[in-house]
Amino acid sequence: MKNWIESAADFVKQRFTNEYSGHDYWHIVRVVNNAKYLVAHEENVDADLVELSAWLHDVGDHKFFDGDEAKGHAFVRQWMVGAAMPEMDIERVMQVISEVSFKGAHVQDKPTSKEAQIVQDADRLDAIGALGIARAFAFGGSRDRLMYDPGVAAEQHDSFEAYKNGKGTTVNHFYEKLLLLKDRMHTDTARKLAEERHRFMEQFLDRFYREWEGEV
Ligand code: ADP
Ligand code: NI
Repeated sequence: MKNWIESAADFVKQRFTNEYSGHDYWHIVRVVNNAKYLVAHEENVDADLVELSAWLHDVGDHKFFDGDEAKGHAFVRQWMVGAAMPEMDIERVMQVISEVSFKGAHVQDKPTSKEAQIVQDADRLDAIGALGIARAFAFGGSRDRLMYDPGVAAEQHDSFEAYKNGKGTTVNHFYEKLLLLKDRMHTDTARKLAEERHRFMEQFLDRFYREWEGEV
């Protein structure tokens, strides 16, 4: 798999250069770096599979294919076929990236391989903390979402359809996803890193509401 890591990195750099929804090229770079860090603290992990999957994890994301996950997966698979990767390796990467996404507060999403668990942890570390806050508001702005509306309650989605089609505010997204992530980490290293990032989001929200009310 090593042979394909560099071309995947080049491909992703081109593809995500004009992406401003918080899923930009630097998000992918941070996820790759997080993933390598987590691998270094684990045993018996296929490091190349993790790295290649981290580079490719958002290429086929449903958000870039009008919510059509199958279309997104077909696209990333096609890139691997075009790069002449062996079918067996393509299957392994597809297994990892198809298990990474968050699909709603009440939807089970535990990946079945250690490699997929690491990529999911790495992706989710970048969804929380200061970077997570920045990305959420960038995403919200790119999708015409209000920052906050005191009259719109957060939802706990029961299905991927309901989660994808939710029209809530960016502040609601913290309750619908971001604040749930720390308890869904799989590796000890990510769980530890998530704690401080989680606390920072709680502090941010606390100040946000106080400033909203004109208290500070
Ligand atoms: P995953 O990376 O697990 O597939 P998503 O694609 O749903 O998860 O979301 C990735 C990131 O995009 C989130 O962590 C967040 O920063 C941003 N995002 C997604 N949906 C929303 C939303 N409704 N409001 C604000 N930000 C969002
Ligand atoms: Ni991602």
